[in-house]
Parts: sequence; C-alpha cells; structure tokens
Amino acid sequence: MTVVTRASELTAALAEYGRPRLLVPTMGALHDGHVALIRHAKELAGAEGTVVVSIFVNPIQFDRPGDLAAYPRPMEADLAACRAAGVAVVFAPEATAMYATDRSVTVSESRLSRNLCGAARPGHFDGVCTVVLKLFLLCGCDMAVFGEKDFQQLAVIRRMVRDLNVPVTIVAHPTVRETDGLAMSSRNVRLDTAQRADAPRLRHALLAALAAYQTGTRTTAELLATARQVIEASALARIDYLSLVDAESLEAVERIERPALLATAVFYGEVRLIDHVRLAP
Ligand code: PAF
Repeated sequence: MTVVTRASELTAALAEYGRPRLLVPTMGALHDGHVALIRHAKELAGAEGTVVVSIFVNPIQFDRPGDLAAYPRPMEADLAACRAAGVAVVFAPEATAMYATDRSVTVSESRLSRNLCGAARPGHFDGVCTVVLKLFLLCGCDMAVFGEKDFQQLAVIRRMVRDLNVPVTIVAHPTVRETDGLAMSSRNVRLDTAQRADAPRLRHALLAALAAYQTGTRTTAELLATARQVIEASALARIDYLSLVDAESLEAVERIERPALLATAVFYGEVRLIDHVRLAP
C-alpha cells in the first residue's frame, strides 16, 4: 500500500496502478461502515482496478470549531484498516496542502442543501462539495463510493456531478449499523457510556414512525410526533432537527404522497448524530 501526503506524489503513485480507479473519500477514524465502502469499491475495481482512500479531516465543512478539534484522528489504526482491506493508495494530505491561504473559489449547491443538515450547519455542504470536487480532480477517479447514511451529502454530490459534468460515477452503499441499530459513525466513539447506550433511540424513533406509516398514517404532523416522542423520552438526547422531506427534492412535505425521508439529527452533549428512514408509498 502506498501512502502519500502531497498531490504531486499522488499523481506519480497512481500512474503505477490500473483502471478503473475507485475513490473512497473519508475523514478517517475508519469503522466497519468505511470498510464496507472499501470492500464495495474493491468489487467494482475488479482485478485490474485500483482503490484509493482519502483521509482528510476537511476544516471547511465544520460549522463548530469544537467539533473539528475533537474529531478523532487515529492515523495509524486507519492505515492498518486500509492495508487489511486491500487498499492500493492512501491520500492523507495536510490542510495546508489542500487549501491555499488566499483560496477564493467555493463550490456551492443551492437547492438540495437548503434544509436538514444544510440549514442546521451553515456552509457545511459548500465545504463538502469543494473538497469532494478537489479530491475527484486530484485522484482522477472513475468512480467514487459514498455511504447512504449521509443521504443529503449523497444527493448534493450527485447534483454537483450532474450540474458540473464531472466525469465520475457516484456509487451509494447502504448504511452499516451496529447490532443495536445505531448507524456507524466516526463520532460514535465520542459518546460516553450512558450516551452510547441511549443512542439507538434515533433508530427506534424512526422505526416507530415507519411502523405508523405502514399502518396508514400519512400526515407529517402525526409521523413527526411519533418519532419525537421516542427521542424526547430521553434526558440525554436533544433534537437538532426532525423533518419529513420529499426523497428527491429534500423539500418539506405536509403528507406522504411520494417517496419521502424522515430524517433526524440529535445531539448527545456535543456529539451530533444523524439518521434517516425512507417512507415510500
Ligand atoms: O462523509 C464524509 O466523511 C465527508 O463529508 C467527505 C465526503 C469525506 C468529505 O470531506
């Protein structure tokens, strides 16, 4: 496995490897969800292809300085996980290698990023789009694999690729969960014991709403109330948002007539977790 920290080294390293070239962009602190993305990328790469993993805690997508500072950075363990998963090249740049001090160009998506995490974390998706486009250009990848857990990120990146004619195929991988239902996230390790024990509540809340939907409830007010009740039963959880949106436009809906997503972001102390469930007629 080749590990590089500079763009020039990346180009030289990749010249040695075959196509298709698959990128799995990450911010490190790799868990089994990331490993599933890498495995999927390996399958798509086939015998001739190459899997590249980027590890970069992108400062411009953080809206809270404390969250950026506390973001876990276990580089040695991440490299070991990549090696074990059969990654060919790891690109792990420093922030100074990615951003000029006088940088003045940002990629901005203005429709799908209006609600949910886009509203709750101003500037977040500009930071994501900017870094993801840079990573695509630096890696010259044919395909890139993203987790469905971050479904709004996936939608925004697909829109960026469509609207800017970026020649990269976006591949989605289903959310990977712990056995108790908690969606895997690099932030889970920051939960204390009581918070970690409580956190599957997000999933339970969404599944309670799904059950109500399956027995005929269609109005947003009723579905949100069902999910909210489960989350608010905990003294540890604080809802950042709980929204029902159209699955394509990500605009809020009053009742379900087309495929929709029930999405939530919940704080446990300073740690913010997200999850969603699809409700489809
Ligand atoms: O999903 C993530 O880990 C990040 O948002 C990404 C796509 C690696 C961009 O920094």
